[in-house]
Amino acid sequence: MTRPKVYVTRAIPEEGIELLEKHCDVEVNREDRPLTREELLKNVRGRDGVVSLLTDRIDSEVYETARGIRGFANYAVGFDNIDVGEATRRKIPVSNTPGVLTDATAEMAWALLFSVSRRVVESDRLIRSGNWKGWGPLQFIGGDVAGKTLGIVGAGRIGTAMALKSKGFAMKVIYSDEFTNATIEEELGARRVPLSELLGESDFISIHVPLMAETRHLFNADIFTKMKRTAYLINTSRGPVVNEAELVEALKNRVIAGAGLDVYEFEPEIAAGLADLDNVVITPHTASATVSSRTNMALKAAENLLAMLKGERPPDCLNPEIYD
Ligand code: DGY
Repeated sequence: MTRPKVYVTRAIPEEGIELLEKHCDVEVNREDRPLTREELLKNVRGRDGVVSLLTDRIDSEVYETARGIRGFANYAVGFDNIDVGEATRRKIPVSNTPGVLTDATAEMAWALLFSVSRRVVESDRLIRSGNWKGWGPLQFIGGDVAGKTLGIVGAGRIGTAMALKSKGFAMKVIYSDEFTNATIEEELGARRVPLSELLGESDFISIHVPLMAETRHLFNADIFTKMKRTAYLINTSRGPVVNEAELVEALKNRVIAGAGLDVYEFEPEIAAGLADLDNVVITPHTASATVSSRTNMALKAAENLLAMLKGERPPDCLNPEIYD
């Protein structure tokens, strides 16, 4: 029996590749960079399945080129890079990797929250510069965390984990979401509030919504003016949820106190002026970059793709209706 031909658009942890190799002929882009559009199109042609990354735009042109493909397994929980509607119309299954990066992402949101409010990176920079003159009573005074109000925007898996991790800091938790979240309401006494109320009450706002038409630029100049001047914004979701140029202005003019960002509107570019600001901590989209998360993402992507290749519904199918 011929083995399915699989392409992996960039090296992912070997555990996932080894699992695929047990059943398929696998080719991997071993160059440590995203494929160009031309390379992507060339390499999906004639494959039975593809493991794609969030940096690959998977759209009708790709589906057209990859005629006969049996599925795309995205190595990410976010899937705004994939035209799922078009895949569904063409009856091509697509999957993501939910669940295995929840804690890692929430932990990074907390790392950013502490780093920006307690000015960790600024402090580190001063010592490394050789200009630190010793302890000072007015040095690096930052925002308090314990007892403050944490506003969660999007209380899905990661938003829930972010909220639950506030327990040790006796924070008041409020959240905005389409749905009631019984877990954080019962465990933390969290309250679901309209976004307008969350903006005015929160000392820290952590964004955990997916990128969709409705959430693009959800945070913009107008919204920043509705936040407390002492509040911090944390974003580990997707960059375009925040209007980054307007955030730079808000941070420069101290409309808000600071921001911790792991994601950017036009990755890998960042907005002009962002890197010059001291009241922002920026990390390179690494919220899920822990050993277990990345390994399990690779295994999950492989398991999903293997199911698709067998004609079975993958465990994390984004368009299950194609199997009806
Ligand atoms: C995701 O999974 O969507 C993250 O952004 C990358 O791990």
